[in-house]
Amino acid sequence: MLILFALCAVPVLGSASYRCSSEGLGETPTYSTKGLPFPAHNPVGLEEEKYDDLIFDPAIHLQLEDPEILHTLLVDDDASTASSPFPVPPNTTYPGLAYSAPFRVLSDAGILAVRGIVNRYEHTAGANERTPKRVRGLGYRSAFIRNLTYAPELLEHLSKMANLGVWPHDMHMNIAQTNFGQIGHGQKVDEWHQDSVDYVMVLLMSDTTDMVGGELQVARVSNATEALLMVKADQLPSEVVATVQYPGAGHAIFMQGSKIAHTVTSVLSAKEPRLSLVNSYQTLNPFRKDKTVYTTFRVQDPPNVVPTEMARHAAWRVQGQLGCVIDNPQWGPDESPEQTKQDVAATLRTAAAELLRAADLITGVIEDERPYKVDEDFWDRVDKVDEVAHATATAAPIVCAEEE
Ligand SMILES: [Fe+2]
Repeated sequence: MLILFALCAVPVLGSASYRCSSEGLGETPTYSTKGLPFPAHNPVGLEEEKYDDLIFDPAIHLQLEDPEILHTLLVDDDASTASSPFPVPPNTTYPGLAYSAPFRVLSDAGILAVRGIVNRYEHTAGANERTPKRVRGLGYRSAFIRNLTYAPELLEHLSKMANLGVWPHDMHMNIAQTNFGQIGHGQKVDEWHQDSVDYVMVLLMSDTTDMVGGELQVARVSNATEALLMVKADQLPSEVVATVQYPGAGHAIFMQGSKIAHTVTSVLSAKEPRLSLVNSYQTLNPFRKDKTVYTTFRVQDPPNVVPTEMARHAAWRVQGQLGCVIDNPQWGPDESPEQTKQDVAATLRTAAAELLRAADLITGVIEDERPYKVDEDFWDRVDKVDEVAHATATAAPIVCAEEE
Protein backbone atom coordinates (compact mmCIF):
# COMPACT_ATOMS: atom_id res chain seq x y z
CA MET A 1 0.00 0.00 0.00
CA LEU A 2 2.74 2.47 0.92
CA ILE A 3 4.57 1.82 -2.30
CA LEU A 4 1.37 2.69 -4.15
CA PHE A 5 1.07 5.92 -2.17
CA ALA A 6 4.54 7.13 -2.92
CA LEU A 7 5.54 5.68 -6.25
CA CYS A 8 2.36 5.30 -8.26
CA ALA A 9 0.22 7.76 -6.30
CA VAL A 10 -2.98 6.24 -7.59
CA PRO A 11 -6.27 6.50 -5.70
CA VAL A 12 -6.49 3.89 -2.97
CA LEU A 13 -9.98 3.19 -1.79
CA GLY A 14 -11.10 1.38 1.32
CA SER A 15 -14.14 -0.27 -0.22
CA ALA A 16 -16.66 0.07 -3.02
CA SER A 17 -18.93 2.02 -0.67
CA TYR A 18 -16.21 4.49 0.30
CA ARG A 19 -17.57 7.79 1.50
CA CYS A 20 -15.81 10.94 0.30
CA SER A 21 -15.91 12.55 3.69
CA SER A 22 -15.41 16.25 4.03
CA GLU A 23 -17.22 16.99 7.25
CA GLY A 24 -15.00 19.43 9.07
CA LEU A 25 -12.20 18.38 6.72
CA GLY A 26 -11.58 15.55 9.14
CA GLU A 27 -9.23 12.61 8.90
CA THR A 28 -9.92 10.25 6.01
CA PRO A 29 -6.87 8.03 6.12
CA THR A 30 -7.82 5.51 3.47
CA TYR A 31 -8.05 7.87 0.51
CA SER A 32 -5.03 9.05 -1.42
CA THR A 33 -4.52 10.72 -4.74
CA LYS A 34 -1.67 11.53 -7.11
CA GLY A 35 0.68 14.28 -5.90
CA LEU A 36 0.87 17.70 -7.53
CA PRO A 37 3.58 17.81 -10.22
CA PHE A 38 6.34 20.40 -10.01
CA PRO A 39 5.52 23.36 -12.32
CA ALA A 40 6.60 22.96 -15.93
CA HIS A 41 7.78 26.59 -16.05
CA ASN A 42 9.73 28.51 -13.42
CA PRO A 43 8.69 31.89 -12.03
CA VAL A 44 10.50 34.98 -13.27
CA GLY A 45 13.54 35.55 -11.07
CA LEU A 46 13.93 31.89 -10.14
CA GLU A 47 15.31 30.54 -13.38
CA GLU A 48 17.06 27.19 -13.34
CA GLU A 49 20.78 27.16 -13.94
CA LYS A 50 22.11 24.23 -15.94
CA TYR A 51 25.09 22.25 -14.73
CA ASP A 52 25.71 19.25 -16.93
CA ASP A 53 28.37 17.94 -14.60
CA LEU A 54 25.99 17.54 -11.66
CA ILE A 55 23.18 15.08 -12.24
CA PHE A 56 21.35 13.42 -9.36
CA ASP A 57 21.87 9.68 -9.27
CA PRO A 58 20.22 7.84 -6.38
CA ALA A 59 22.78 5.05 -6.62
CA ILE A 60 25.57 7.57 -6.02
CA HIS A 61 24.03 10.29 -3.89
CA LEU A 62 21.55 8.49 -1.65
CA GLN A 63 22.45 6.26 1.26
CA LEU A 64 19.07 5.50 2.81
CA GLU A 65 19.16 3.77 6.17
CA ASP A 66 16.41 2.95 8.66
CA PRO A 67 15.80 5.00 11.80
CA GLU A 68 16.25 3.00 14.99
CA ILE A 69 12.88 4.09 16.31
CA LEU A 70 9.89 6.33 15.58
CA HIS A 71 8.80 8.68 18.33
CA THR A 72 5.02 8.96 18.06
CA LEU A 73 2.53 11.64 18.99
CA LEU A 74 1.53 11.40 22.61
CA VAL A 75 -2.00 10.43 23.50
CA ASP A 76 -3.08 12.36 26.60
CA ASP A 77 0.60 12.78 27.52
CA ASP A 78 0.82 9.01 28.08
CA ALA A 79 4.51 8.13 27.75
CA SER A 80 3.68 4.46 27.09
CA THR A 81 2.40 5.46 23.66
CA ALA A 82 5.58 7.33 22.84
CA SER A 83 7.33 5.15 20.26
CA SER A 84 7.05 2.52 17.56
CA PRO A 85 9.50 0.28 15.76
CA PHE A 86 10.39 1.03 12.15
CA PRO A 87 8.74 0.00 9.94
CA VAL A 88 5.43 0.34 11.74
CA PRO A 89 4.10 -3.19 12.34
CA PRO A 90 0.90 -3.93 10.41
CA ASN A 91 -2.42 -3.97 12.22
CA THR A 92 -1.20 -1.86 15.13
CA THR A 93 -2.58 1.41 16.41
CA TYR A 94 -0.24 4.18 15.29
CA PRO A 95 -0.97 7.55 16.91
CA GLY A 96 0.98 9.35 14.19
CA LEU A 97 4.61 10.30 13.78
CA ALA A 98 6.08 12.90 16.10
CA TYR A 99 9.70 12.56 14.93
CA SER A 100 12.01 9.79 13.86
CA ALA A 101 15.38 8.90 15.25
CA PRO A 102 18.14 10.17 12.92
CA PHE A 103 18.69 8.13 9.78
CA ARG A 104 21.18 8.39 6.97
CA VAL A 105 19.89 9.97 3.74
CA LEU A 106 22.89 11.21 1.72
CA SER A 107 26.12 9.47 0.87
CA ASP A 108 29.39 11.37 1.19
CA ALA A 109 29.11 12.16 -2.54
CA GLY A 110 25.55 13.40 -1.97
CA ILE A 111 26.68 15.69 0.85
CA LEU A 112 29.43 17.12 -1.33
CA ALA A 113 27.04 17.75 -4.22
CA VAL A 114 24.35 19.43 -2.11
CA ARG A 115 26.87 21.58 -0.27
CA GLY A 116 28.21 22.73 -3.61
CA ILE A 117 24.74 23.82 -4.69
CA VAL A 118 24.09 25.58 -1.38
CA ASN A 119 27.42 27.42 -1.67
CA ARG A 120 26.43 28.60 -5.14
CA TYR A 121 23.28 30.25 -3.78
CA GLU A 122 24.44 31.37 -0.34
CA HIS A 123 24.53 34.95 -1.66
CA THR A 124 20.71 34.79 -1.98
CA ALA A 125 20.28 34.08 1.74
CA GLY A 126 17.83 36.18 3.70
CA ALA A 127 16.36 36.23 7.18
CA ASN A 128 12.95 36.11 8.73
CA GLU A 129 11.85 36.78 12.28
CA ARG A 130 12.59 33.18 13.26
CA THR A 131 15.68 32.26 11.29
CA PRO A 132 18.65 34.65 11.04
CA LYS A 133 20.03 33.25 7.79
CA ARG A 134 18.44 30.88 5.29
CA VAL A 135 18.23 30.19 1.55
CA ARG A 136 14.87 29.36 -0.09
CA GLY A 137 13.74 28.35 -3.55
CA LEU A 138 16.53 25.91 -4.42
CA GLY A 139 13.96 23.53 -5.93
CA TYR A 140 13.40 26.02 -8.75
CA ARG A 141 17.10 26.70 -9.18
CA SER A 142 18.50 23.20 -9.24
CA ALA A 143 17.37 20.04 -11.04
CA PHE A 144 19.65 18.07 -8.74
CA ILE A 145 17.83 19.33 -5.64
CA ARG A 146 14.45 18.73 -7.29
CA ASN A 147 15.29 15.18 -8.31
CA LEU A 148 16.62 14.47 -4.84
CA THR A 149 13.42 15.81 -3.30
CA TYR A 150 11.13 13.77 -5.59
CA ALA A 151 13.27 10.61 -5.52
CA PRO A 152 10.77 7.72 -5.21
CA GLU A 153 13.09 5.83 -2.86
CA LEU A 154 13.18 8.73 -0.44
CA LEU A 155 9.42 9.39 -0.63
CA GLU A 156 8.66 5.74 0.05
CA HIS A 157 11.02 5.77 3.03
CA LEU A 158 9.36 8.85 4.51
CA SER A 159 5.87 7.50 3.81
CA LYS A 160 6.70 4.42 5.85
CA MET A 161 7.63 6.64 8.79
CA ALA A 162 4.44 8.69 8.52
CA ASN A 163 2.52 5.44 7.94
CA LEU A 164 0.68 7.19 5.12
CA GLY A 165 1.60 8.58 1.72
CA VAL A 166 3.57 11.84 1.74
CA TRP A 167 4.65 14.09 -1.11
CA PRO A 168 6.80 17.26 -1.37
CA HIS A 169 4.69 20.21 -0.30
CA ASP A 170 2.92 22.19 -3.01
CA MET A 171 4.50 25.47 -1.85
CA HIS A 172 7.65 24.70 -3.81
CA MET A 173 9.71 27.57 -2.41
CA ASN A 174 10.04 25.26 0.60
CA ILE A 175 12.15 22.74 -1.28
CA ALA A 176 15.58 22.57 0.34
CA GLN A 177 15.27 25.54 2.65
CA THR A 178 18.80 25.73 4.01
CA ASN A 179 19.41 27.21 7.45
CA PHE A 180 22.81 28.58 8.44
CA GLY A 181 23.47 28.31 12.17
CA GLN A 182 26.20 30.86 12.63
CA ILE A 183 28.73 30.22 15.38
CA GLY A 184 28.51 32.48 18.40
CA HIS A 185 25.71 34.48 16.81
CA GLY A 186 23.77 34.32 20.07
CA GLN A 187 20.43 33.79 18.34
CA LYS A 188 18.72 30.44 18.09
CA VAL A 189 19.08 28.74 14.73
CA ASP A 190 15.29 28.47 14.83
CA GLU A 191 12.92 29.75 17.51
CA TRP A 192 10.24 27.60 19.19
CA HIS A 193 7.41 27.04 16.74
CA GLN A 194 5.11 24.62 14.98
CA ASP A 195 5.57 24.18 11.25
CA SER A 196 3.26 25.62 8.61
CA VAL A 197 3.24 22.33 6.69
CA ASP A 198 2.38 18.76 7.72
CA TYR A 199 5.83 17.18 7.83
CA VAL A 200 9.46 18.23 7.45
CA MET A 201 12.70 16.36 6.90
CA VAL A 202 15.62 18.13 8.55
CA LEU A 203 18.87 16.99 6.96
CA LEU A 204 22.16 17.93 8.57
CA MET A 205 24.79 19.01 6.05
CA SER A 206 27.74 20.12 8.17
CA ASP A 207 30.42 18.58 10.36
CA THR A 208 29.11 18.70 13.91
CA THR A 209 32.09 17.03 15.57
CA ASP A 210 32.64 18.77 18.93
CA MET A 211 29.79 21.20 18.21
CA VAL A 212 28.33 22.85 21.31
CA GLY A 213 24.70 23.90 20.87
CA GLY A 214 22.83 23.72 17.58
CA GLU A 215 20.58 20.98 18.98
CA LEU A 216 17.10 20.19 17.80
CA GLN A 217 14.76 20.20 20.79
CA VAL A 218 11.22 18.83 20.75
CA ALA A 219 8.49 19.39 23.34
CA ARG A 220 7.01 16.01 24.25
CA VAL A 221 3.59 17.45 25.04
CA SER A 222 0.31 16.25 23.50
CA ASN A 223 -0.91 19.72 22.64
CA ALA A 224 1.63 21.77 20.68
CA THR A 225 -0.28 24.99 21.26
CA GLU A 226 -0.10 24.46 25.01
CA ALA A 227 3.59 23.70 24.69
CA LEU A 228 4.20 27.03 22.94
CA LEU A 229 2.19 28.84 25.58
CA MET A 230 4.41 27.24 28.24
CA VAL A 231 7.49 28.34 26.29
CA LYS A 232 6.21 31.87 26.13
CA ALA A 233 5.65 31.86 29.89
CA ASP A 234 9.06 30.18 30.48
CA GLN A 235 7.19 27.30 32.09
CA LEU A 236 8.02 24.41 29.78
CA PRO A 237 9.42 21.70 32.11
CA SER A 238 12.88 20.58 31.06
CA GLU A 239 11.89 16.93 31.54
CA VAL A 240 9.48 17.11 28.58
CA VAL A 241 12.10 18.54 26.23
CA ALA A 242 13.76 15.84 24.10
CA THR A 243 17.06 16.60 22.39
CA VAL A 244 17.98 15.03 19.05
CA GLN A 245 21.62 14.16 18.50
CA TYR A 246 22.62 13.72 14.87
CA PRO A 247 25.40 11.17 14.28
CA GLY A 248 26.81 13.44 11.58
CA ALA A 249 26.37 15.06 8.20
CA GLY A 250 24.06 13.30 5.76
CA HIS A 251 21.67 12.21 8.54
CA ALA A 252 18.11 13.51 8.87
CA ILE A 253 15.11 13.30 11.08
CA PHE A 254 11.56 13.22 9.77
CA MET A 255 9.05 15.09 11.89
CA GLN A 256 5.37 15.98 11.95
CA GLY A 257 6.33 19.52 12.78
CA SER A 258 2.81 20.85 12.42
CA LYS A 259 1.80 18.88 15.52
CA ILE A 260 4.81 19.28 17.80
CA ALA A 261 6.59 22.35 19.11
CA HIS A 262 10.32 22.43 18.39
CA THR A 263 13.37 24.68 18.26
CA VAL A 264 17.07 24.63 17.34
CA THR A 265 19.37 26.07 19.97
CA SER A 266 22.11 28.57 19.15
CA VAL A 267 25.51 27.29 18.05
CA LEU A 268 28.00 28.19 20.76
CA SER A 269 31.07 26.61 19.18
CA ALA A 270 31.72 24.34 16.20
CA LYS A 271 34.20 23.58 13.46
CA GLU A 272 31.93 25.24 10.92
CA PRO A 273 28.45 26.86 10.81
CA ARG A 274 25.61 24.39 11.32
CA LEU A 275 24.07 23.78 7.92
CA SER A 276 20.67 22.07 7.70
CA LEU A 277 18.45 21.43 4.71
CA VAL A 278 14.73 21.39 5.46
CA ASN A 279 12.26 19.82 3.06
CA SER A 280 8.50 20.14 3.53
CA TYR A 281 5.90 17.44 2.87
CA GLN A 282 2.15 17.03 2.86
CA THR A 283 -0.05 13.97 2.91
CA LEU A 284 -1.56 12.63 -0.30
CA ASN A 285 -4.99 12.58 1.32
CA PRO A 286 -6.82 15.71 0.08
CA PHE A 287 -9.48 15.35 2.80
CA ARG A 288 -7.00 15.56 5.65
CA LYS A 289 -7.09 18.92 7.40
CA ASP A 290 -4.83 21.33 5.54
CA LYS A 291 -2.04 22.51 7.84
CA THR A 292 -0.63 24.97 5.31
CA VAL A 293 -0.30 28.46 6.79
CA TYR A 294 -0.37 30.84 3.84
CA THR A 295 0.85 33.88 5.74
CA THR A 296 4.10 32.14 6.63
CA PHE A 297 5.03 32.08 2.97
CA ARG A 298 3.38 35.32 1.86
CA VAL A 299 5.59 37.37 4.16
CA GLN A 300 8.89 35.90 3.02
CA ASP A 301 8.65 34.57 -0.54
CA PRO A 302 8.45 36.50 -3.84
CA PRO A 303 5.02 38.08 -4.40
CA ASN A 304 4.93 36.79 -7.97
CA VAL A 305 5.32 33.21 -6.70
CA VAL A 306 3.31 32.70 -3.50
CA PRO A 307 -0.24 33.30 -4.85
CA THR A 308 0.22 30.82 -7.68
CA GLU A 309 1.77 28.23 -5.40
CA MET A 310 -1.23 28.56 -3.07
CA ALA A 311 -3.71 28.44 -5.94
CA ARG A 312 -2.14 25.24 -7.26
CA HIS A 313 -2.18 23.77 -3.75
CA ALA A 314 -5.88 24.53 -3.27
CA ALA A 315 -6.68 23.30 -6.77
CA TRP A 316 -4.85 20.04 -6.10
CA ARG A 317 -6.74 19.44 -2.86
CA VAL A 318 -10.13 20.16 -4.38
CA GLN A 319 -9.53 18.14 -7.54
CA GLY A 320 -8.58 15.26 -5.24
CA GLN A 321 -11.78 15.66 -3.26
CA LEU A 322 -13.92 15.89 -6.38
CA GLY A 323 -12.01 13.03 -7.98
CA CYS A 324 -13.17 10.88 -5.10
CA VAL A 325 -16.78 11.79 -5.87
CA ILE A 326 -16.29 11.03 -9.57
CA ASP A 327 -14.47 7.74 -9.10
CA ASN A 328 -16.49 6.49 -6.19
CA PRO A 329 -20.23 7.12 -6.60
CA GLN A 330 -22.06 6.91 -3.34
CA TRP A 331 -25.49 5.55 -4.17
CA GLY A 332 -26.45 5.03 -0.58
CA PRO A 333 -29.00 2.61 0.80
CA ASP A 334 -32.57 2.96 -0.41
CA GLU A 335 -33.84 3.47 3.13
CA SER A 336 -31.87 6.68 3.76
CA PRO A 337 -31.81 8.77 0.60
CA GLU A 338 -31.85 11.95 2.67
CA GLN A 339 -28.57 11.04 4.38
CA THR A 340 -26.94 10.26 1.04
CA LYS A 341 -28.14 13.58 -0.32
CA GLN A 342 -26.65 15.46 2.61
CA ASP A 343 -23.39 13.50 2.42
CA VAL A 344 -22.67 14.17 -1.24
CA ALA A 345 -23.75 17.79 -0.92
CA ALA A 346 -21.40 18.25 2.04
CA THR A 347 -18.46 17.10 -0.06
CA LEU A 348 -19.30 19.65 -2.76
CA ARG A 349 -19.85 22.44 -0.26
CA THR A 350 -16.57 21.82 1.50
CA ALA A 351 -14.68 21.80 -1.80
CA ALA A 352 -16.28 25.11 -2.73
CA ALA A 353 -15.53 26.60 0.69
CA GLU A 354 -11.92 25.51 0.45
CA LEU A 355 -11.49 27.26 -2.88
CA LEU A 356 -13.13 30.41 -1.59
CA ARG A 357 -10.91 30.39 1.47
CA ALA A 358 -7.79 30.08 -0.69
CA ALA A 359 -8.97 32.95 -2.90
CA ASP A 360 -9.63 35.08 0.21
CA LEU A 361 -6.18 34.29 1.62
CA ILE A 362 -4.51 35.17 -1.67
CA THR A 363 -6.35 38.47 -2.02
CA GLY A 364 -5.99 39.38 1.65
CA VAL A 365 -9.69 39.24 2.50
CA ILE A 366 -8.72 36.92 5.35
CA GLU A 367 -5.39 36.16 6.97
CA ASP A 368 -4.29 32.97 8.68
CA GLU A 369 -1.91 32.98 11.59
CA ARG A 370 1.65 31.79 11.91
CA PRO A 371 2.14 29.34 14.79
CA TYR A 372 5.22 31.07 16.13
CA LYS A 373 6.10 32.00 19.65
CA VAL A 374 7.72 35.18 18.29
CA ASP A 375 4.38 36.61 17.17
CA GLU A 376 3.80 38.42 20.41
CA ASP A 377 0.18 39.25 19.74
CA PHE A 378 -0.61 35.92 18.06
CA TRP A 379 -2.46 34.42 21.01
CA ASP A 380 -4.62 37.50 21.38
CA ARG A 381 -5.85 37.00 17.83
CA VAL A 382 -6.53 33.25 17.91
CA ASP A 383 -10.19 33.64 18.83
CA LYS A 384 -10.80 36.07 15.99
CA VAL A 385 -9.17 33.76 13.46
CA ASP A 386 -11.16 30.78 14.71
CA GLU A 387 -14.32 32.76 14.09
CA VAL A 388 -13.26 33.56 10.53
CA ALA A 389 -12.32 29.95 9.84
CA HIS A 390 -15.67 28.74 11.19
CA ALA A 391 -17.59 31.26 9.13
CA THR A 392 -15.70 30.20 6.01
CA ALA A 393 -16.17 26.49 6.59
CA THR A 394 -19.91 26.90 7.09
CA ALA A 395 -20.45 29.31 4.23
CA ALA A 396 -23.68 29.02 2.30
CA PRO A 397 -23.48 26.84 -0.82
CA ILE A 398 -22.52 28.69 -3.95
CA VAL A 399 -24.47 28.46 -7.16
CA CYS A 400 -22.38 27.42 -10.13
CA ALA A 401 -23.17 29.74 -12.99
CA GLU A 402 -21.31 31.27 -15.88
CA GLU A 403 -20.93 34.99 -15.82
CA GLU A 404 -23.00 36.86 -18.35
FE1 LIG B 1 10.19 23.65 12.12
